[in-house]
Amino acid sequence: ANLWRGLIREYADRLDVSDATPVITLGEGGTPLIPAPALSARTGANVFVKYEGMNPTGSFKDRGMTMAISKAVEHGAKAVICASTGNTSASAAAYATHAGITAAVLVPEGKIAMGKLSQAIAHNATLLQVQGNFDDCLDIARELSANYPVHLVNSVNPDRIEGQKTGAFEIVEQLGKAPDFHFIPVGNAGNYTAYHRGYREYADAGISNQVPRMFGFQAEGSAPIVLGHPVKNPETIASAIRIGNPASWELALSARDDSNGYFGAISDAKILEAHRILSAEVGVFVEPASAIGVAGLLERSAAGEIPAGSTVTITVTGHGLKDPQWALRGTDGVDVQPTVVPVDVTEVASVLGLAKGDA
Ligand code: F0G
Repeated sequence: ANLWRGLIREYADRLDVSDATPVITLGEGGTPLIPAPALSARTGANVFVKYEGMNPTGSFKDRGMTMAISKAVEHGAKAVICASTGNTSASAAAYATHAGITAAVLVPEGKIAMGKLSQAIAHNATLLQVQGNFDDCLDIARELSANYPVHLVNSVNPDRIEGQKTGAFEIVEQLGKAPDFHFIPVGNAGNYTAYHRGYREYADAGISNQVPRMFGFQAEGSAPIVLGHPVKNPETIASAIRIGNPASWELALSARDDSNGYFGAISDAKILEAHRILSAEVGVFVEPASAIGVAGLLERSAAGEIPAGSTVTITVTGHGLKDPQWALRGTDGVDVQPTVVPVDVTEVASVLGLAKGDA
């Protein structure tokens, strides 16, 4: 078997690294591209999901963080800082501690999922809950990094986008070609920008046939790019993308224009519906924000915008175990209560609706 060595070693020729770069890796990248027959049947397209929850800290952020922390250490940084809705902080904390440097993370008070909070604390980051939203946290992190000896590892750091573009490289290699459409969640629009860059690079190098149309989705209550102006008090149950003023806004608009792409907004109800389809029909467990690309595909397909037979890939960005409470919520809004049974085979069989017979 060809064992995966982490994305910096696998893609060294396409990243800004040299022999002088210490490779800080937890084995990120190399995630599965999973066929999704349930989504293909609903849309008439040939649909695949790129399961980024399989990264070491459970989200796509690890692709950017292996680069950002390696480059920070190369430049002598002893401390990094980030603002986060949770996943970036989990990833920064893990990679920094692995590198033997410190991480400080700023998160919006009470607005990040428990799994992510636990990760940052477990990995020894200094975690501060800011009495504001993500955009306020990013403003503070930027100002601190400009005036204090601390290195910023948000996606405004160009090393992050560079690492994240490898998701597109892998898809081209897994499919043997570029897809026709790529669907992806949008918060700061860093990952949208990164996938476009990866696809563009492979097309220009003649490794792939085309740049897919890049379709990005924001939650309806947090949709600045769709609205065309910042949103002061962004709201959505998809806490990972509760962002009102995306850092990579301009880059993302260029990527949209280059790819004949699209930005759309999706309601929280449709996000949860897509979350359920992914869990219950595809077998892929994600956090709510990660389901928005699937919701976007279903919406665009219903609008007649996805020709039958198109090859469609969707990045599902973070693992379901990060924020598992949503799985327990029934379609009626009431939490599911698993049935309790006694220690009795006959009773259990009867509750399961099993009749005695051949095994
Ligand atoms: N999906 C998940 C699970 C995320 O955590 C994020 C961003 C996105 C999608 C959007 O990616 O910002 O590049 O457009 N999370 C950041 C964080 C903001 O702090 O973890 P983007």
